[in-house]
Amino acid sequence: MVKVLLVGNGAREHALAEAIKSSNKNPELISFISAKNPGIVKLSSKYIIAKLGDFSALGNFVDEEKPDFAVIGPEAPLEAGIVDFLATKKIPAIGPTKELAQLETSKSFTREVMRKYGVPGSPRYDSFKTVDGISEFMDTLSGIVIKPDGLTGGKGVRVQGDHFQTKEEALKYCKEVLNEHNIVVVEDKLIGEEFSLQSFCDGRFVVDCPVAQDHKRAYDGDKGPNTGGMGSYSSEDHLLPFLKPEHVREAHRITEKMAQALYRHTGHYFKGIMYGGFILTKEGVKLIEYNCRFGDPEAMNVLPLLKTDFIDVCMALINGTLSKTNVEFEKKATVCKYAVPKGYPEKPVKNEKIEIGNIDSAKVYFASVDEREDGLYMLGSRAVAFVGTGNNLKEAEQAAQSALDSVKGPVEFRKDIGTEALIQNRINHIKEITGK
Ligand code: GLY
Repeated sequence: MVKVLLVGNGAREHALAEAIKSSNKNPELISFISAKNPGIVKLSSKYIIAKLGDFSALGNFVDEEKPDFAVIGPEAPLEAGIVDFLATKKIPAIGPTKELAQLETSKSFTREVMRKYGVPGSPRYDSFKTVDGISEFMDTLSGIVIKPDGLTGGKGVRVQGDHFQTKEEALKYCKEVLNEHNIVVVEDKLIGEEFSLQSFCDGRFVVDCPVAQDHKRAYDGDKGPNTGGMGSYSSEDHLLPFLKPEHVREAHRITEKMAQALYRHTGHYFKGIMYGGFILTKEGVKLIEYNCRFGDPEAMNVLPLLKTDFIDVCMALINGTLSKTNVEFEKKATVCKYAVPKGYPEKPVKNEKIEIGNIDSAKVYFASVDEREDGLYMLGSRAVAFVGTGNNLKEAEQAAQSALDSVKGPVEFRKDIGTEALIQNRINHIKEITGK
């Protein structure tokens, strides 16, 4: 019997809990969570609720429970050094050490490593510790992107045309960033279609999950404020309708080279998920940023399709034997859509009750909800994700949408994710950009 510790309590972690529990190794799941996710709690034999950065509470829990290994869902505990802490207790983890987590937590670290070891895919960029030279550098760019060096909960990156218009506004934001962070990264704006390639990595070898595409904007037609991600889809051929196999091969090559570069730079192997936020542009595939964990919602596109026992994959990452492990995914399309509280993300209703009706074949993953005696209450962030699976995107989209339509209560969602019309827009966008 294997005992697995899960850290985190969102819908992504609910999907991880399900993947762990569907192993044929009869695993016991214990969870370290900061809120009582009803889906995770149901699958766990034990759990404790604490701040995910509370290593003293975590230490007591693992001393008592002695898990065989840990799976870390979100980035914040990785940044805080949870994997290093667990290593002091001889508990291996799926997720990088604090040093290697800089792949996500420091935009300048990632770009500098890419530059130093010749990893392709960066736009023109430079990093600055003071405002000196920023204005001159901005004059050389076709559009400006500003990235604070550090985790900002997805709210720190600002893009010209989306978040600000003029160079003066850009410089003002750079000053604000430098008041809070040591470094600001300034990059050329990339134009194209984004896609997420989440790859298992044991430090030497990289195996990709099917590609997915997230939808950051709150409202249909990619309108409204940015969110944590309203939904995502993946196709039965493991490409996306606007991507060719060579585009995914190029993204894979970038991640493979980055894994090698990380080892050369730090002397340590990255063991976990390298999630590349890529973009297909007129100049080919470029890397916008790396995350060092599964995406949320994109984890829910890939984990339900994993045919290989997830615990075998985890053991391969820990033991460095991924090259000898056959990792397979079902050839199905998936569409994931979040139900969020009305008013999300700016003024979400809170403590409002929802009821989920008949969801047929769709899967449900709980996020920011609380299960009380009289039902399920929303806490203010993305509430519940529904995942439809099918032989094609149409089937998958209908399954996810019909599950969403069963929800009673003050929720909102994007109706257009995974629909033919929106996907055709993506294809047209790429045709416009590349002329192909
Ligand atoms: N899908 C966005 C993220 O997980 O950061």
